[in-house]
Amino acid sequence: MNILILGSGGREHALAWAVKQNPKCDRLIVAPGNAGIADVAECAALDMLDGAAVVSFCAENAVDFLIVGPEAPLAAGVADAARAAGILTFGPSAAAARLEASKAFTAAYAHFTDAAAARAYVTAQGAPIVIKADGLAAGKGVVVAMTLAEGLAAIDDMFGGALGTAGAEVVVEEFMQGEEASFFILTDGTHALPIGTAQDHKRVGDGDTGPNTGGMGAYSPAPVLTDAIMAQAMAEIVQPTIAEMARRGTPYQGVLYAGLMIADGRARLVEYNARFGDPECQVLMMRLGAQALDLMLACAEARLDRAQVQWADDHALCVVMAAKGYPGSYAKGSVIGNLDQLPEDSRHMVFHAGTAADHGQITATGGRVLGVTARGDTLAAAQKAAYAMVDTIDWPGGFCRRDIGWRAL
Ligand code: AMP
Ligand code: GLY
Repeated sequence: MNILILGSGGREHALAWAVKQNPKCDRLIVAPGNAGIADVAECAALDMLDGAAVVSFCAENAVDFLIVGPEAPLAAGVADAARAAGILTFGPSAAAARLEASKAFTAAYAHFTDAAAARAYVTAQGAPIVIKADGLAAGKGVVVAMTLAEGLAAIDDMFGGALGTAGAEVVVEEFMQGEEASFFILTDGTHALPIGTAQDHKRVGDGDTGPNTGGMGAYSPAPVLTDAIMAQAMAEIVQPTIAEMARRGTPYQGVLYAGLMIADGRARLVEYNARFGDPECQVLMMRLGAQALDLMLACAEARLDRAQVQWADDHALCVVMAAKGYPGSYAKGSVIGNLDQLPEDSRHMVFHAGTAADHGQITATGGRVLGVTARGDTLAAAQKAAYAMVDTIDWPGGFCRRDIGWRAL
């Protein structure tokens, strides 16, 4: 079959890498793709937010299966446009993807459209407390306030327009203590199939210090998500959500990424995302390999009740290399050397995010640039192998955390 993946990040490189290994895949196109993706797929220039353009591209290229990677095309209704045109599609409708922005299933206390009311409420509740700009603020709309002063300042910022229109509504949530983990479930609207767990590292600095980022590294599985906690999360969080989405007439089809907080042997929901995590996808795809395509097809064809995951009994760990300065401002165009010196086997992969090929050289074009990923029989072995790859890469313009995996090791 001919397959089109939308996106250009490390997540899409990992998806392409896994899909390409499946013999069902004849032709693989990624739009827009990046320099690393070009090693495993054809890259095509296409406005992935333009549903009509995606539909005509699929017709012109006889695409049999469309996989939507990032949230932006989902929110723009690209999966809806493709399905309406009869294209088999992996990814939720725009209405279902709104689950990502919705706080209806989380620990929300209250909603405010007025700063004075929000201030009064937070003052009464006290700290620690969590203030969120409702709507999509690219993960930047969350302040975990440890003091009342921080909480009030966050409210003033959000209503003062620091985040633009996303701040016009503010949600106040109960602060949840515990250890965070990511749980990935495929659902076809009715059935649900857990496909893996991972833990991300959101802060830029070693020891979880400094500002939040899109994620500086991940590993899978997440030992904190035991079988018992996964079963509880399925029964109390995931299944009710899937049922409620169907009841509302917006059945959810695609991957459900549940951000969970684990404490006292129980999981609570921090947030949902309507896509694979990045860099969590890199470690999941390393462990799933070719079957990822079969699972996404079963999801799109609503036959997940008959699908099974063959779990790999090992570990994968991904270290993100980012441009110096990230998540603040950073330079573009620095050259990345020695990528050709890395081991060439399916247990060692460098997934590209912000890269371009320039006269035979790979250059950095984004904040998060490489996802250096390795598998191992133990997490420690995967970590050792990933950092050996990091140390081979010659990129003076980049940096990474040196402690990915610390929580589990
Ligand atoms: P979100 O964008 O909703 O994922 O929030 C970003 C991060 O803020 C999460 O990954 C958590 O680390 C933290 N966070 C969000 N909501 C809460 C909460 N209710 N209690 C504690 N931490 C939270
Ligand atoms: N790594 C976190 C995310 O993809 O949202």
